[in-house]
Amino acid sequence: MSELRHIPGTFDVLPADSAPWEGLLATFARVVEGAGYGLIITPTFESLEVFQRVGASTDVVRKEMYDFVDKGGRHIALRPEVTASVVRAYIENRPPLPWKSWYAGSNFRYEKPQQGRYREFRQVGIEAIGSPDADLDVEVVALGWEFYAAVGVSRVELLLNSLGDGTCRPAYRALLLEYLRAHRAELCEEHQARLEENPLRVLDCKRPACRHIVEGAPKQLDHLCDACQAHFDRVRAGLDALAIPYTVDTTLVRGLDYYTRTTFEYAGRALKSAQNGIGGGGRYDGLVEAMGGPPTPGVGFALGVDRTLLAVEIEGQLGRLGAWRGLDAFVVDFAGGEAARDLTARLRNAGLRVDRAFDGRSTKAQLRAAGRSGARLALVVGPDEAARGTVGIKDLGCDDPQKEVAVEDIVEEVQNRLA
Ligand code: HAM
Repeated sequence: MSELRHIPGTFDVLPADSAPWEGLLATFARVVEGAGYGLIITPTFESLEVFQRVGASTDVVRKEMYDFVDKGGRHIALRPEVTASVVRAYIENRPPLPWKSWYAGSNFRYEKPQQGRYREFRQVGIEAIGSPDADLDVEVVALGWEFYAAVGVSRVELLLNSLGDGTCRPAYRALLLEYLRAHRAELCEEHQARLEENPLRVLDCKRPACRHIVEGAPKQLDHLCDACQAHFDRVRAGLDALAIPYTVDTTLVRGLDYYTRTTFEYAGRALKSAQNGIGGGGRYDGLVEAMGGPPTPGVGFALGVDRTLLAVEIEGQLGRLGAWRGLDAFVVDFAGGEAARDLTARLRNAGLRVDRAFDGRSTKAQLRAAGRSGARLALVVGPDEAARGTVGIKDLGCDDPQKEVAVEDIVEEVQNRLA
């Protein structure tokens, strides 16, 4: 029989390594809940159509989606991102606006696996639906910035662009297309073929052929309508006021099609350039309508948890996110096991972190397990203690002799020793 293995592009995080994950999620929740965002939990899979509506011409939807027909004949997709689900949930539930939510969870994209690029990866994100106010864009960008600082990613660069809106984008798109058509033969093979479908994508292409052509291409920022220009100016003024440094990057179009006006990315400079996008987002004022709701603006971001943790690790800050807190006590029972069962329950009910040995193991094996467990205290019950209704208590971190305590007093004694 062949050995069962995880699927390429997925990985396990074992208990010994998962404390930073918990720390990261707790930090994110603290930062965004402090600004009025509430947790939203949406399904991990949706009708394929939910994601097709966000942009059928994007690679994420065209090439990378995990989709299948379920037993009921529905065409389903594992979510490649969460924004579409949040918008779908908004349209379905119509909560009062503005509606601010945050999320955490897995996404699935059939990408070529490598360090920092996985087929199942995790994001944390926020979406603020219902206001076109540029100050909301500033709030969103600033919350991501604050989060990175809180988890210890200091080498992060904020890239900022505006993609215009329905008023100015079509004219810019036509201008760009005209320029690129004149250089078609010099573009990379993929973009020669897909130029007409989505010329803006070329701006984002990392291949040298396209990069060279893009250098001379017209820029959306030079062709914003007055309203988009004023919006962008207000976003920049807001970031300046909050002393958040950024770089205007006129080639930043991002991998999803729904963006209007503000787009931004956080680049983790500690990571290799191909996977240094540790987070990104922007405004999507046309998405709610495109998905069947009333015209409603929105803005948000998603941050890659896996990549952010790589950055935290490379920057030597994993410890800041917290280590496994360890056990308070380990119960060793060589009087038959009942004491271990009851004592463990009593201590856990008092909120203490307690483990014990099972399988009626020898005293020696149990004491070894207590030592290995990392617990502060060993609580020992042999036949004598069981008969007297007492527990032996020993600090595993020092050589102080074991002390005997009545079972009724054990919770207090443990709490005192831990204080
Ligand atoms: P995205 O740029 O596609 O945007 O993904 C956001 C982040 O998820 C990326 O910056 C990256 O850190 C992480 N990520 C993406 N793909 C992978 C992968 N294969 N492996 C590891 N990490 C990955 C969105 O998903 C939008 N929904 C963001 C948004 C929210 N825009 C508005 N609201």
